[in-house]
Amino acid sequence: MSLRKKLIAGNWKMNKTSADAASLAEEIVAAVGKTTDVDIVVCPPFTSLDAVGKALEGSSIKLGAQNMHPEASGAYTGEISAAMLRSLFAGYVILGHSERRTYFKETDAFINQKTLAALKSELKPILCVGETLAERESGDTLKVVQTQTEQGLEGVSKEQITSVVIAYEPVWAIGTGKVATTEQAQEVHAFIRSLLVKLYGEALAQKVRILYGGSMKPANAPELLAQKDIDGGLIGGAALEARSFVDLIKSAAVAG
Ligand code: PGA
Repeated sequence: MSLRKKLIAGNWKMNKTSADAASLAEEIVAAVGKTTDVDIVVCPPFTSLDAVGKALEGSSIKLGAQNMHPEASGAYTGEISAAMLRSLFAGYVILGHSERRTYFKETDAFINQKTLAALKSELKPILCVGETLAERESGDTLKVVQTQTEQGLEGVSKEQITSVVIAYEPVWAIGTGKVATTEQAQEVHAFIRSLLVKLYGEALAQKVRILYGGSMKPANAPELLAQKDIDGGLIGGAALEARSFVDLIKSAAVAG
């Protein structure tokens, strides 16, 4: 039994109207709403947070958002603050997803500001890191992951680090059907753990959950989740359908 409870988080990306999102949440609640041996989080679009939050009421499943702005309020057209997310009972927020880094040019410094703002508002950040295919092929995977992890966590205290979840998502594996091999994933997860040991010491580093993300599916999950440093998954495509998401939760429960 690991020190760390497995966590399965669904990243619904820009999918589903609020009515469709609420139906999916209801199906998940009906299947695994009382589960306590795995932590479960669903991250719908902002427009569905309220409806999904209501569908999750009374269940053990937590609500998360996919992004936020670091400022508390102000003239930031189109943005959402941590306090707004908290007011809808979100407990988690995905930060620094590769799609935000790539399409919206988010930098490590900006992602770091969001991480600190999320923690200040008692939102648990799911900080995403991961290399592109070109970076992997040029042998830069660990360097890229180190920079993104260290810069993303700059200023995060020892008291706060256990509220942070890190998600290793090799960019080349996201939505492509190309999953990292268990060895490739475990190598990077162990490396991230070693960075956490350097920054926060052994005991705290052992408590931080490191999720794998990138084409995780019921078929490949058991092997990935059996790895020593893989503490769960951040799931895109397979989280959009109740059956596959529930199967992933069951795999996580078995992997313990
Ligand atoms: P995927 O997405 O499971 O569809 O590859 C994962 C993610 O982007 O978080």
